[in-house]
Amino acid sequence: MKIKHSREYGPFAPRIDELSDIDPSYKRVRCTLNGIPVDKMVDTRASLTDFLRNDFGLTSVKKGCEVGECGACSVLIDGKSVDSCLYLAIWAEGKDIWTTEGLVASDGSISIIQQAFIDQAAVQCGFCTPGFIITATEIVARGQRYDRSELRRLLAGNMCRCTGYENILRAVEEAIEIEIEARG
Ligand code: FES
Ligand code: FES
Repeated sequence: MKIKHSREYGPFAPRIDELSDIDPSYKRVRCTLNGIPVDKMVDTRASLTDFLRNDFGLTSVKKGCEVGECGACSVLIDGKSVDSCLYLAIWAEGKDIWTTEGLVASDGSISIIQQAFIDQAAVQCGFCTPGFIITATEIVARGQRYDRSELRRLLAGNMCRCTGYENILRAVEEAIEIEIEARG
């Protein structure tokens, strides 16, 4: 039986716990997304990338290679940067997920790493940038310095066609220094 996506139902939508009885290829997922609890029925075959983009409009999560090579789809899951194209949406059950949209505070202020990317002009076309910001957020949160070769290795899962990487490395180094200073 073909089922419409849960958000396409109008006022006569079946209860959320009934949908998986109607079509077992749909499952309920409850997780925290950018600090907000969410509860959705998802296609068991859907990637987390599609879940975030299509169900929540979080288009900072880019579709690049879709095979785990470029890192454009990176999101934080329980504090770790993960390629969301290789992660099934149903695996998000109980997880704490952050995308770049969630790094902007309610007063509009941006995170240390986002500001560092601006300061160091670490962006050209911008397609790779949200993925780099996510991976860098995990690195910066460790509050620890790395030398250039370590930093290159930590960022190796993210690819950029434009910048030559130099400014990105400088941005991450700048953000790490600010983070360490803030911790005293
Ligand atoms: S789109 Fe996921 S790694 Fe390239
Ligand atoms: S800024 Fe264009 S791909 Fe990285």
